[in-house]
Amino acid sequence: MINLPDLKTAQINGKKVFLRADLDIPIENGIIQDDTRLEEGIETLNFLLGKGAHVIIAGHLGRPEGKEEKFSLKPVADYLAKKLNSSVKEGRVGEFEGWQITPELYLLENLRFYPEEEASDPVFSQKLASLADVYVNDSFATVHRAHSSIVGIAGLIPHYAGFMLKKEVEVLSNLLENPKRPLTVIIGGAKIETKLPLVEKMHQIADYVLVGGKIAQETKVLLKVQHEKIEGRKSALMVADLNPQMSDITSNDAENFLQIINMSQTIIWNGPIGITEGLEENHEISSFKLAYGIANSGIYSVVGGGDTVGYLKKIGLLGKFSFVSTGGGAMLELLSGEKLPGIEVLGSV
Ligand code: 3PG
Repeated sequence: MINLPDLKTAQINGKKVFLRADLDIPIENGIIQDDTRLEEGIETLNFLLGKGAHVIIAGHLGRPEGKEEKFSLKPVADYLAKKLNSSVKEGRVGEFEGWQITPELYLLENLRFYPEEEASDPVFSQKLASLADVYVNDSFATVHRAHSSIVGIAGLIPHYAGFMLKKEVEVLSNLLENPKRPLTVIIGGAKIETKLPLVEKMHQIADYVLVGGKIAQETKVLLKVQHEKIEGRKSALMVADLNPQMSDITSNDAENFLQIINMSQTIIWNGPIGITEGLEENHEISSFKLAYGIANSGIYSVVGGGDTVGYLKKIGLLGKFSFVSTGGGAMLELLSGEKLPGIEVLGSV
């Protein structure tokens, strides 16, 4: 079990706290489409403000190439101001642009507007560290990234885990230690370069690995070759075929997936297995059939990833899952037994 430093023991009254939050949420034309990740982070923010800390919230949104306006965190500034009955003022913290939300709360603009963030540049990490006395990470979804605001800064000032991060690590580590079997992992969605190695790693923990969505479409042959090469104990792998429109897996494979799901005692799901955008009313798509099947099965189910969680929320089935993780890639990496840099830097194992 991973021991994370307990935020409740931190001396933060009157101190400046750098809160690495999960701000990577779906935003379209400046409108927030799903605020699950922000909601999950409110407990830690309220705790810090309630303890008299001056909080600087920072995080990233999407994968911008330079300073792209559509990836600005301004909608998040407005969201926070609304939550705290306040208003947004443009401001600066050190050399970082951002917004003042209340006298005690600043939000920095998207850290990925600076290439140094993802490069984990030591000078950049130092600049971030110089803004605060204490560092708190409450962004579980990014702990698999060794970036400046996740790893670099944490090594430089006293550091703690926020409540959301702590809960995620506890629940998922427990699951990893003793899962009820058969354990089935369903992987879909995009982000192929993140997920491809994870499909392979999942063989060590799962009994069945079911792959759909874009990753099935683009890496079917590769996945099968990878699978053949694994020696010793390995899970059964099923990579779905896609329909002629390439919008979904075939209904035949959706049926096959459901049969395996119904034989399972634990389900882990990350990534829609076909296109779901704008199809929230459509009960014929495979992601709906799977969601409905899992939700009504009574099987212990863990779901994670922004797109999957957003979709389940829209179709009203999210509450039927046993545990909802804010992480996608991070959840799968933790469950595959990987050591995650953002967690390692915070605690001892
Ligand atoms: C996520 O949404 O999984 C995290 O925010 C990580 O995003 P990334 O894959 O762009 O690093």
